[in-house]
Amino acid sequence: MAKRRQIYEGKAKVIFEGPEPGTVVQYFKDDATAFNNKKKGTITGKGVLNNRISEYLMLRLADIGIPTHFVRRLNMREQLVREVEIVPVEVVIRNIVAGSLAKRFDMPEGTPLPRSIVEYYYKSDALDDPMVSEEHITAFGWASPQDMDEIMSMSLRINDFLTGLFLGIGIRLVDFKLEFGRLWEEDQMRIVLADEISPDNCRLWDVHTNEKMDKDRFRRDLGNIEEAYQEVARRLGILPESGMPGDMQGPDTLQ
Ligand code: TMP
Ligand code: ASP
Repeated sequence: MAKRRQIYEGKAKVIFEGPEPGTVVQYFKDDATAFNNKKKGTITGKGVLNNRISEYLMLRLADIGIPTHFVRRLNMREQLVREVEIVPVEVVIRNIVAGSLAKRFDMPEGTPLPRSIVEYYYKSDALDDPMVSEEHITAFGWASPQDMDEIMSMSLRINDFLTGLFLGIGIRLVDFKLEFGRLWEEDQMRIVLADEISPDNCRLWDVHTNEKMDKDRFRRDLGNIEEAYQEVARRLGILPESGMPGDMQGPDTLQ
C-alpha cells in the first residue's frame, strides 16, 4: 500500500491525506475507548461496520438535503470525505433519558422526554469535554451565532429523520452525538455534517426488548458488542445473512 501522510489520529479513526486537494481519508479502527480514554479495548470488526453504517446514514441524510462531508467509501475500512475545519463542539441530541442525563438529574434511564433536548460539549480531552452553552461557544469564538443556528436546525432535522429511519427497523434512537465542520468553497463557507454516525456515538435500543445495540455494551461490560453492531448493520440492510458486509441493499422494514 502506498505510504500516505497521516494528518491526525483520534481514538476511533485515523485521518490521512486524500488523493486530491480538499479531501481526506477516514480510516475506521477497531479501537474503542470510553470515559475520555480511561477505558480502552478492541471490538473486532467495529471499524468495518462503522464505515458501512456511517456511509449508509450519511447518504440517506444527503438524500433529504443535509450537506455532509461524505464523498464515497473507498474500501472496508476507509472512506473519502471532504476536508473540513471541525467546529470544536459535540452536539448531543436526546429523545429518551439515558447516560449522563440520567446521572445528572437522578432520573431513570428510559424515560421519554416531552421534547428533544440539544446539548453542547466543548471538544477538549484535557478538560474532559465540558458541557457549554451557546453563549460560551459564541463568546469564545468556537462558532458564530449564524453557525449555531444552522447547526441547531440541521441537528433537529437529522434527529427527526434518523428517529423514523431507526424506528422502521425496530430500533429506538435514544440519543446521539454529531460533529459539524466548515467547508470552504472559493470564498464561501458552509457548515456540513462531519465525523461519523454509528453505534459508537448513538444509543440504539431494540423497540421490543430495550436491548442495547451500541457502545454502552462496551462501556458497561454487557458483552456481545460485535453482535450488536452487526445486528444494527443487518437491520439497515447493509449486511447479508452470511455476516459479511455486502453491497448496499434497502433496509428490512419491521412491523
Ligand atoms: P452521554 O449520556 O454520556 O452524555 O452521551 C450522550 C450521547 O453522546 C450517547 O449517544 C453517546 C454519545 N457520546 C459520544 O459520541 N462521545 C462522547 O464523548 C460522549 C460523552 C457521548
Ligand atoms: N468517546 C469518548 C471516549 O473515549 C467517550 C465515550 O464515548 O464514552 O472516551
